[in-house]
Parts: sequence; C-alpha cells; structure tokens
Amino acid sequence: MFNKIKLWRKTQKPSTLRDRIEQVKKAQIPDHVAIIMDGNGRWAKKRALPRIAGHHEGMKVVRKITKLANELGIKTLTLYAFSTENWKRPKNEVDYLMKLPEEFLGSFLPELIEENVQVQMMGYKAELPLHTLNAIEKAIADTKENNGLVLNFALNYGSRAEILDAVKCVLNDCKSGIINENALDEKTFSSYLMTSEMADPDLLIRTSGEIRLSNFMLWQLAYTEFWFTDVLWPDFCAEHLIDAIEVFQGRQRRFGGV
Ligand code: FPP
Repeated sequence: MFNKIKLWRKTQKPSTLRDRIEQVKKAQIPDHVAIIMDGNGRWAKKRALPRIAGHHEGMKVVRKITKLANELGIKTLTLYAFSTENWKRPKNEVDYLMKLPEEFLGSFLPELIEENVQVQMMGYKAELPLHTLNAIEKAIADTKENNGLVLNFALNYGSRAEILDAVKCVLNDCKSGIINENALDEKTFSSYLMTSEMADPDLLIRTSGEIRLSNFMLWQLAYTEFWFTDVLWPDFCAEHLIDAIEVFQGRQRRFGGV
C-alpha cells in the first residue's frame, strides 16, 4: 500500500506554479525562446477599450515573462514588438507603440540591470523615432556588461528584408573578394543576418490563435519547435510559458535525422 502511494505521488504532475517551475528546470530548458506577442487589440476590444490599452497591458506581460525566462535559465528571449509592416496601422497606434520601449525601459531598466538582463534589439533603426532609438540604445549600453538573459526586442523587424539585405551584402563581399561564393555556406550566410551573434530559436510561441509567422525569423526558425495558444498576449502568464516549455520538453527534435 505504502509503495503504491509513493508510485502515485511520483506520477502526479506537480500542481502549483512553483512546483512546475522547479520541475521544468530539471529537464532541458530551450536556450532561445522567440515570441510573437499577438492579440493586444482583441484583448482591448473585448473590454471596449482603445487598442493602445491592449498594448499597454501587453507591455506589463513582457516584464513578467522576462523575469520568469531569466529565472528558468533561458539564454535569449526574442520578442516581436513591431514589424516592418506595422507602420500601416493608424498613426495614434504607431505613435503609442513607438513610445512603449521608453515607457517600459523608463520603469524597468533598473530592474533589468539588477537582474543581470542584457537588452538587445534587432530591426531597422533608421526609421525609428529618435526618442525610441535613444531609449533602446541607452538600455543596450547600460546592460552591455550583463551576462544573464538576453532580452532581444525585434523592433521594426522584417525577415524578408533582413534576408534580402544579407544577400546584397554577400554579393558585395563576393565582388570585393572578402568571401568566395563557392565557400558560401549556411553558417556564413547566417553571419550576415541580424541574429549573427545568437543561436536560432529553439521554441517559438505565438499567442492569440493565429497560426502564421508574419515575416518573423523565416531563416532562423527552420528547425524551431512551434507552440501556439489561443490566449491573447495580455492574458499570457507564467503558467502559459511553463505549458509551452513542458510541451517543448516532450518533443523529439531530429533536425532532419532519425
Ligand atoms: C500584436 O497584437 C502586437 C503588436 C503589434 C505589438 C506588441 C507589443 C507589445 C506586446 C508591447 C511591447 C513592449 C515593449 C516593451 C516594446 P495586435 O495589436 O495585432 O492584436 P490583434 O491581432 O488582436 O489586433
């Protein structure tokens, strides 16, 4: 009887969030998690609020998920905060989205520094308003010595443009003899992308029930495990990240092998 109880205990899933966190930490944690944070607009609409209220709530979730990712030992967290296509949105929404990095970093930069998080950004800087760029560059500079989680904001990022620009640079470097086109391989090509310093994502999460990539990290996601949820980004919480990691830990990654 006693043995039966012991066996039952062993096979039970841990129930509290703390137990689940400790449990996933015992198995392989994805080094790089990328998230398409979708559903802010719908979250706001459901509450008869303006869309920007959804983005504001989404920003608060960024803080919580960053903390947890750091605690779990995730090495890089890439967040799709603004795409090269998002400029098509109404001006007031774009303006607000461009204010969010300032607002976020204005409140949480000391916490990020304290928690050893390193802020990075990938995307086209030239089109960003100066106030947005300044906030990001200050955070990058203030956290450059940190060696904990890399919090990588994809801001004015578009994967097709990134790949095309890489191709143009490769062609240039071939012409000028810096690289030999016959020696061009995947590793060298990757070094021309905005992610040259980081490993490809191990896990991609997209919230809000949309099952698409929306021009996000098309090259880098070649062997990434995908996890989709209907949860809207402002409702995303620690339990959902743990759900995704548990699923990831149950997957068998073969990278085209057997
Ligand atoms: C997509 O949801 C979300 C965005 C385009 C913006 C994401 C930004 C944040 C979550 C905040 C980022 C925070 C920092 C610190 C930069 P949507 O607006 O397309 O939602 P919908 O599909 O429901 O309309």
